Order: sequence, then C-alpha cells, then structure tokens
Amino acid sequence: MRLTRPGTFLRWLDRHGLARLGIAAAARRGDAQARLFFDPAIRDDPYPFYREVREAGALVRGRLMWSTTRHDAVVAVLRGEAFSSDLESLPAPGPLAVVRRLGRSGRPIGPADPPSMLVVDPPTHTRYRRLVAKVFTPRAIEGLRPRIERHAEALLDDLPQAPGDTVEIVGRYASLLPLTVIAEILGVPQDMRQRFLAWGEAATPTLDLGLTLRQYHHAEDAIRQLNAWLRGHFARLRVDPGDDLLSRLVHLDSEGERLTEEELLATAGLLLVAGFETTVNLLGTGIYLLIRHPDQLGALRERPDGWPNAVEEILRYDSPAQTTARYCRADTEVAGVPVRAGEIVVPMMGGANRDPAVFPDPDRFDITRANARDHLSFSSGVHYCLGAALARLEGQLGLSAFFERYPDAALAAVPRRRSTRVLRGYDHLPVRLRP
Ligand code: HEM
Repeated sequence: MRLTRPGTFLRWLDRHGLARLGIAAAARRGDAQARLFFDPAIRDDPYPFYREVREAGALVRGRLMWSTTRHDAVVAVLRGEAFSSDLESLPAPGPLAVVRRLGRSGRPIGPADPPSMLVVDPPTHTRYRRLVAKVFTPRAIEGLRPRIERHAEALLDDLPQAPGDTVEIVGRYASLLPLTVIAEILGVPQDMRQRFLAWGEAATPTLDLGLTLRQYHHAEDAIRQLNAWLRGHFARLRVDPGDDLLSRLVHLDSEGERLTEEELLATAGLLLVAGFETTVNLLGTGIYLLIRHPDQLGALRERPDGWPNAVEEILRYDSPAQTTARYCRADTEVAGVPVRAGEIVVPMMGGANRDPAVFPDPDRFDITRANARDHLSFSSGVHYCLGAALARLEGQLGLSAFFERYPDAALAAVPRRRSTRVLRGYDHLPVRLRP
C-alpha cells in the first residue's frame, strides 16, 4: 500500500479511527449497542438484536449513542427538526476540532461529504434538493422503463444457458442492472462502466462507520479518481450535452440558480453510490427470498400485478439500508424520552420494519402483506430517498424479468453476506438457473 497522505489520515481519524476506538472500548465494557458494529453474528442476522433493543425501550441509551428500532420513534427522529444529518458540525472538543479543521484541506468530495445532500440540513438541503428534483422527476424516471427492460433482457441473454450451470447472480445480474441504469443517468460511456463499478464499490464503505485506515485510504483514492474523471465529464457535457439526466443537471439554470461544480461532484458521486449499491442489494435479496419461498413466487406467476407489493415486502423484510445516524442540535424528546443537544441517535430502519406494533407477525415474509409499504427502508422526512421511484421500478422489472426467464432457479451454494453494516445484502449468491 502507498503511504497515506497526512490529510487522509486526519480525516480517517476524525470520521472512523476515534469511533473505532470508542466503539471497541464500549464493546469491551459490555455495551450491547457497540456489538452491532463488531459482532459478526449480528451482521449476519441483526433481527434478534433489534428485538432486544425494541423490548428495552423506545429509545435505548448506550455508552456512545442512543438507538431505536421502534417504528414510531424512528419516524420521530428522521422527521424531527431537532435532529441533524450534518454530523461534521457536531461540536468537537479542542484537539478533535483541530484534527477536523486540518483534515478539510485537500479533501476529495465523496458521496457522504458536504455538500452531498445526504449530509446537509435545511435550508441548504432544501435549495439543493429542489434543484436536483427538477431533473429527477417522476416522468423522467418512468421514461427509463423501456431501457431498464431492455438492459435486463440483454443481461439475462448473456448468462450461461446450459442446464445445471451455476451462475454467481450478484456479479452477473443484480449489480450490472443498476450499474447500467445509473451509468445511463450519468451519461457514462460504455467503455468506462467497469471503472465506474470499481469506483462505486470502493467509495461505498464510506457510508459505514468505523472503517480501517486501509479501507478509508482505498475509498479516498477511488473518490479522488472519480472526482477527476467527473470534472472532465462535466466540461464535455457543457459543450456537448447528451440525452441523460446529468446533462440536464449540468445545464440547469432555474431562475438564475444552478448547482456549483462542487455540488455537481457531490450529486454525481451520491447518485452513483446511493443508486447502485443499494439497488444491487434489493435485487440480490429479492432473488434469494423468492427462491426460498416458492409458494409466493408461484403466486406471482399467477398474479403478476402482485410484483409492486412483493418489492415493498422485500424492502421491509430485509432492507438494503439498515441504519442511519442523526445528531441532536437542541434538547428535545422522542417518545417521551429526553434527548440532549450534542447526543447521537441511530435510527435503525431495519429494526423498525419488524416492529410488531405496525407489522403483525413481522418475521414472516409475506408478499401480500397489506401495509408492507409502511416500511422505512427509504428513510422519512426531508432526506427521504430521492431515487425511491427508480429503485422500485428497477426492483419490479429486474426481479420479474429474472423469474419469468428462470422460474425454477435454485440456490447452488450458501450465499455470502457483504461485510458492510449500514448497507445489507449478498455479495456472492450462486444459483442454478435450470434444474
Ligand atoms: C433499494 C434501493 C434504495 C434504498 C434502500 C435507498 C435508501 C435510501 C435512504 C435510507 C436514504 C436516506 C438516508 C438518511 O435519511 O440518512 C436515501 C437517500 C438518498 N437516495 Fe436512496 N436508496 C435506494 C436507491 C436509490 C437510487 C436508485 C437513487 C438514485 C439513483 C438514490 C438516491 C438517493 C439520494 C440522492 C439520497 C439523498 C436524499 C437526501 O438527502 O435528500 N437512492 N436512500
């Protein structure tokens, strides 16, 4: 590994290094919540842990933060005006403030760095999101339908067709479909797509907490290369716009308002990571769950209009985005529990989605569940996922195309989970397409 730049080290220390130390120390002292970040058994199956947290209270205090897996409390935090997504503005004690200030210089703009809309608060967030939403309209998303269908069919045509062949379906399908769609949205040429995939994969762990220095270094390198390529790409689109959403964003001038180069960089990086690394998990998990529930797959064959609700149930049952974080800006109360300014709260959407107060028999996978859509997998409040409509469309088209072609697909080996904790899914899912 190359030598780490001093700035990279300081940023790692501020974002991940100190958190790693704090979480490890809390775990050693028996802090139950710290286990979420280290315990491999909880990574593999977090649901018993979420139940413990819910049964312990609406909001549960650990040594480092509050956690909640109760649906009403998760909504209250995500929608509460006292809570901020801008964790960088969390007041830091003297030495940490210096580390943070020094780390700012020379920082590449990653998907979870300001001015990414994911980590800024209103009113900056409002302006920024309004501008991006002008391009990301429901009509523009619906307009992508025929292309998504075409891409899905083309990717399925490329799979090995001989009976008995085993295919690693995440690498060959679940990742390539969202990658192709997001590359099209961003106007990325065909020959750049594999590099984009590599940059996206390297940058994604920055959405997690407690990276090692090596992981962080690798992610920053990828983000730096992505930034450099995007700057050139914006310059090309300015003189020669394409038929893609990014070209429209680059040329957007709404009553004299436009996105700055930095904001465009953050948006394109966020769309790449948020649009790709989550949807791959929706498709991979969906394929796994439906293979494991052949009766429900059979019901979808009889009633294809059940696909939209099946996608909601997949999102509820095993969400691609399990948790997020907020810090409290002003003393407040959540479900009657006082929370003080400066404290961190972790709303666990994956846990709220199994709250029996909202979802009867929550551990049962049921594609006909009437209120499956009440899940919180796309968050809630001002940061509600900008790409939710696109993700739903990709889920419905991608899964139905796969199972129409391969109704008898079967698991060929035990699948392997991704190592990330905020994002949840499989990175290795071998299936046999034909008996
Ligand atoms: C199954 C797929 C997806 C899931 C589960 C998902 C989940 C989420 C969640 C939980 C958040 C909010 C995090 C928070 O409140 O802190 C979010 C925000 C966001 N998502 Fe998604 N997402 C998905 C697909 C997509 C796609 C396809 C795109 C775009 C191409 C996208 C773009 C975004 C953007 C831009 C934001 C930031 C919105 C804001 O801060 O205002 N997502 N997503």
